[in-house]
Amino acid sequence: MAEEMSATLSIARRLPLSGGKGAIPQLGYGVYQCPAATTAATTLHALQSGYRHIDTAGIYRNEHAVVAGTAQFLRLNPTVSRSDIFISTKFAPHLKGYEAAKASIAQSLSHFRNPLALNDARLKIPAVRPDGVTRVAWPGYDDFANSGEKTERDGLGYIDLYLIHAPSGTLEERNGAWRAMVEAQGRGEIKHLGVSNYGVRHLKELFEFIEGEEREGRAGGKVEVWQGEVHPWLSRWDITRLCEEKGIVVQAYSPLARATRWGDKLLREVKERTGKSEAQILVRWSLQMGFVPLPKSEKNERIDENADVFDFELTEEEVKKLDTGKYEPSSWDPTVWTN
Ligand SMILES: NC(=O)c1ccc[n+]([C@@H]2O[C@H](COP(=O)([O-])OP(=O)(O)OC[C@H]3O[C@@H](n4cnc5c(N)ncnc54)[C@H](OP(=O)(O)O)[C@@H]3O)[C@@H](O)[C@H]2O)c1
Repeated sequence: MAEEMSATLSIARRLPLSGGKGAIPQLGYGVYQCPAATTAATTLHALQSGYRHIDTAGIYRNEHAVVAGTAQFLRLNPTVSRSDIFISTKFAPHLKGYEAAKASIAQSLSHFRNPLALNDARLKIPAVRPDGVTRVAWPGYDDFANSGEKTERDGLGYIDLYLIHAPSGTLEERNGAWRAMVEAQGRGEIKHLGVSNYGVRHLKELFEFIEGEEREGRAGGKVEVWQGEVHPWLSRWDITRLCEEKGIVVQAYSPLARATRWGDKLLREVKERTGKSEAQILVRWSLQMGFVPLPKSEKNERIDENADVFDFELTEEEVKKLDTGKYEPSSWDPTVWTN
């Protein structure tokens, strides 16, 4: 994957998707492990900071909160369109096959189409601040929460990107889940399709299935995005080269390597040269590699920090040196599953 021309990088940059009908904002905000009770607020904050892409999942149990925060943002910012925002969600790994995928898509779609008001009990947002004031301290909360009004704008209408979270189940079950996704795309419920944590073998099996469907005159769908753990200690050239060859965008999860590498020698050197933080250097590396990094934080100041990466640039040599060639996942690694 060629390093991107730094001059073209900006928070507004979108990468075209190979289905030909849209683009994905290159910087995303990840919400794994963010409690639902705070995720509406952090989502709203991220969107106000300029992020236009959020990554959630059925198993994160905060999809509804992401949608609530996004709907609130759109309400407060009428000049921003629904189509400016991109939300990824996923088919949970413990569920398998066609019927389960159909039911999961329906559940996600119902979240996307029926955003909860911020004072809805299901969001579990505290209605009373510790100082006793009956309001939550973020813009427009009372306005939306108490209006009781639901406008067409409040519903997000469709899912931007639906991913199979991991290559669990049998090949038949994985293909069945994919078929349910293709059908939902045909109904306009999902815009783009992809897979997460698939290894080279899983991807090739899926490409074969898609070709088979098309040979028999059925819509096979297109793998437009692959999501996986990618950072300098796990650049996964086998998978990312295959993605490049097939025109598949790489969403890089755990782009900060879960904040476990702050003492790294090279990171410290680049930090000294640029005055930027380790987290910013890692986000910038991912962007310059042409990936779509999804840094996660529950803290507003870090959400801002992770997006403040467009006033410096890594040299070509730094980009190359940071790619350590190591294979050190910071969490699970389903790409090697043999089921
Ligand atoms: N498809 C999958 O299987 C999969 C798996 C993992 C992740 N993901 C996606 O990728 C996203 C990101 O991955 P991740 O959550 O594993 O890891 P990550 O983004 O690499 O790191 C998150 C950790 O870094 C900390 N952090 C964030 N910004 C920081 C900063 N500026 N300075 C210091 N520490 C900072 C966070 O703490 P605070 O929150 O306290 O700031 C958190 O502990 C997830 O949220 C999820 O959307 C997908």
